[in-house]
Amino acid sequence: MNIMVVGGGGREHAIIKKLKENKTIDKIYALPGNGGMKDDAICVNVGAKDIEGITEFAVNNNIDFAVVAPDDPLVLGAVDALESKGIPCFGPKANAAIIEGSKVFSKNLMKKYNIPTAEYEVFSDIEKALDYLKTAPIPTVIKADGLALGKGVIICNTREEAFDAVRSMMMDKVFGDSGNNIVIEEFLTGPEVSVLSFTDGKTVVPMISSMDHKRALDNDMGLNTGGMGTIAPNPYYTKEIAEECMETIFLPTVDAMNKEGRTFKGCLYFGLMLTPKGPKVIEYNCRFGDPETQVVLPLLKTDLFTIMKAVSEEKLSDVKVEFSDESACCVVMASNGYPSKYETGFEIKIDEKIDADVFVAGAKIQDGKKVTAGGRVLGVTAIGENLKEAVSKAYKEVNFVTFDNAYYRKDIGKRALEVK
Ligand code: AMP
Ligand code: GLY
Repeated sequence: MNIMVVGGGGREHAIIKKLKENKTIDKIYALPGNGGMKDDAICVNVGAKDIEGITEFAVNNNIDFAVVAPDDPLVLGAVDALESKGIPCFGPKANAAIIEGSKVFSKNLMKKYNIPTAEYEVFSDIEKALDYLKTAPIPTVIKADGLALGKGVIICNTREEAFDAVRSMMMDKVFGDSGNNIVIEEFLTGPEVSVLSFTDGKTVVPMISSMDHKRALDNDMGLNTGGMGTIAPNPYYTKEIAEECMETIFLPTVDAMNKEGRTFKGCLYFGLMLTPKGPKVIEYNCRFGDPETQVVLPLLKTDLFTIMKAVSEEKLSDVKVEFSDESACCVVMASNGYPSKYETGFEIKIDEKIDADVFVAGAKIQDGKKVTAGGRVLGVTAIGENLKEAVSKAYKEVNFVTFDNAYYRKDIGKRALEVK
């Protein structure tokens, strides 16, 4: 059997490594993948947003099943295009991927179906937005409607910052058309939890919970990044909270999408905040999170391809999805300077003594050597009996990976370990 995974980062590498455990799979192609994963997949030079190229490749190469991992191709309709050619897929169609593709859509969905989230207003007119901000409670949160490489959310601690954020989105168009409409939202407080789930539109199966570390520097300082590390499970997410989320958030969301005629099939990601008034949705993603996937999938005991196929065939209730009761910690090694300016082209050396998974996000092959080619270069994921062990092991194992200008946070898991 031949499988194709669309995407090219650490998340895709983690998906590919997990799929490889299924011995009925002969070949796994990554479109485009990256040089760092070439031992695990055949990398094909077709961009993840090139829907025509992806479909053509699948048709010409006897692809039996496709996994579309990133948000862009999902929102652009990659699954619709592939399915129209008879290729079964894991991932939502465009009409369901809009749950991530438009914040206005997702906020209105939550309001209509009483799913707990921050209070908000939507604006398409800059003057009205600025006027509203004259009296809005501060801090406030400004969000561009469309996809913005994870950067479209600005937390404003002063009124001036809020005016500036609105002007930059609506007048200067720093996020392009994504800023044509904006959401101005109540500022919430509390620990954040990422819950990825499998759903076929009928059944929803939450995966083990996790915690991302989005800021570039230790102690959550510095700029927002695509994620500098993760741990799983998230100690804030107790069994009681999980039950509450299932009842007030997960099932209602899947139902709401069905009622809207936008059945969601794939991985639905719930970004939650555990506020003093209960768990609320901060954001939905229509895909596996990154780097969350790099701790969640290594703990998955059930065969991933079996689950993905069942989701695609709407038979998820037939599969018993099980996770290990161990813990995982992923430390992302980045190029020094990320997410601003950084240099690339440095050789990556991985000592074979390493006892951890290495998921490569930004590397290429140059003169036969693996060299750095991105801001986030790779993730080192270690598993331990408990969180403390996983964290200390991850930090021991990162020493087996070296490249010039490497930078990583030293405190991944620290906050989680402080939870009583
Ligand atoms: P996002 O890009 O949607 O993942 O949002 C980035 C981060 O902004 C989230 O992980 C939260 O830490 C923060 N955030 C988003 N919305 C809110 C909110 N309403 N209140 C407080 N923090 C928020
Ligand atoms: N780690 C957050 C995301 O994938 O959007």
